[in-house]
Amino acid sequence: MARILLGVSGGIAAYKAVELTRLAMAAGHSVRVVMTPSSRRFIGAATFEGITGAPVLTSEFEEDPMRGAFPGDPEPSHDPIGHLEIAANADLMVIAPASANTIAKLASGIADSMLTTSFLAVGCPVLLAPAMNEKMWHAPSTSRNVETLRQMGVHVMDPDAGSLASRGEAGKGRLPEPAEILSASESLLRESVTLPLDGRRVLVSAGGTREPVDGVRFIGNRSSGRMGRELASAAVRLGADVVLVEANPTGPVAAGIERVAVETTAEMQVALAERFQKADLLLMAAAPADFRPAELPEGKLHRDGSGLVLELVPTEDIVAGLSQGSRDDQLIVAFAAEWGPDGLSRARKKLDRKGVDLVVLNDVSDPAIGFDSPMNRVCIVGRDGEVELETATKREIAEGILDQAVRLAGWTGDDNR
Ligand SMILES: Cc1cc2nc3c(=O)[nH]c(=O)nc-3n(C[C@H](O)[C@H](O)[C@H](O)COP(=O)(O)O)c2cc1C
Repeated sequence: MARILLGVSGGIAAYKAVELTRLAMAAGHSVRVVMTPSSRRFIGAATFEGITGAPVLTSEFEEDPMRGAFPGDPEPSHDPIGHLEIAANADLMVIAPASANTIAKLASGIADSMLTTSFLAVGCPVLLAPAMNEKMWHAPSTSRNVETLRQMGVHVMDPDAGSLASRGEAGKGRLPEPAEILSASESLLRESVTLPLDGRRVLVSAGGTREPVDGVRFIGNRSSGRMGRELASAAVRLGADVVLVEANPTGPVAAGIERVAVETTAEMQVALAERFQKADLLLMAAAPADFRPAELPEGKLHRDGSGLVLELVPTEDIVAGLSQGSRDDQLIVAFAAEWGPDGLSRARKKLDRKGVDLVVLNDVSDPAIGFDSPMNRVCIVGRDGEVELETATKREIAEGILDQAVRLAGWTGDDNR
């Protein structure tokens, strides 16, 4: 997650900055918007404020109710100078759309609004997405200003070609699509920001396995795979290459995750074993069955008026098997879905019995958390003690679990460059 300072200047394409903001927020970034006075004639500040949950600033003399902080960050206790504080906190400044006028101001160092003053004050990379009429884009002064900015180290995207806002006109000058601007922003962030899981490979298991009883029936469990998918997404946000081995997938996965679908515990064991050697971190959030039917009759079992006794045999203990062959530089996090108050002592025993580094315990007897709930509450059990994560969304819990794993491993991102 990065702090993106989005500058919006005056042009028809200002409305597309709303979609850019939405996409950036959905990707987990924290966004603050600064608008030039003329951009407010094209689009209202309330839209950005509604999406980001933070006030929009236009003048450097305006009081910033958030004192330069980004959403999700604590506000400083003092009253800082707004444009200096917001600029210092940004990981990336994006100006989209960048008008010809704003480009000219930035190239010559004019600082007469919150946007232009912040631009001078930032220490982070800056990405400009120009949008204007084709004649304005090809005007010698605009070409010169763009060249000046590029020489200053500012990243200026080329506008797209196509139909333009002015009636019947076409040519080069369209704002690149918001998704493209976000992808260019994320490339810049990857180059400039070190994330703790940069270059690390994370293997995540998720979902409930199904053990066939006959050709049409299975024994399953209530795991929805949500916790595992959130862990996979959180690991991607921290810079990792992520493979998710998911039993019987039910929901979509975020971009950047390679998903391998499996059905049974045996299939999951094979899929994980094939990939484990390359992994730095294994997060075993799946709920593999502990037992499977001893026999698999062909076709469908038919009722014959009498009962049916199924013989069950134990499945492979996936995590114990993987931990036996693990290297010292690999970290394994197991999960324990326990029922009731004895959970903690069972989780502590599991830590040693399975030879893992952390056990994430959750109490599945509480219907408000756990299986198929968007919320969870866990206790992370390690050899040095326990860390409780109070009831929160599974996304927040996933971030908390990764935080503990990264801390235990001592990964910084720089150690792996
Ligand atoms: C309807 C309309 C559309 C405009 N569209 C653009 C545009 O797409 N790109 C641009 O550079 N200027 C455009 N302008 C001109 C800018 O709004 C004008 O240069 C303004 O001073 C820019 O101020 P700012 O850079 O501080 O936002 C447009 C003006 C109007 C009236």
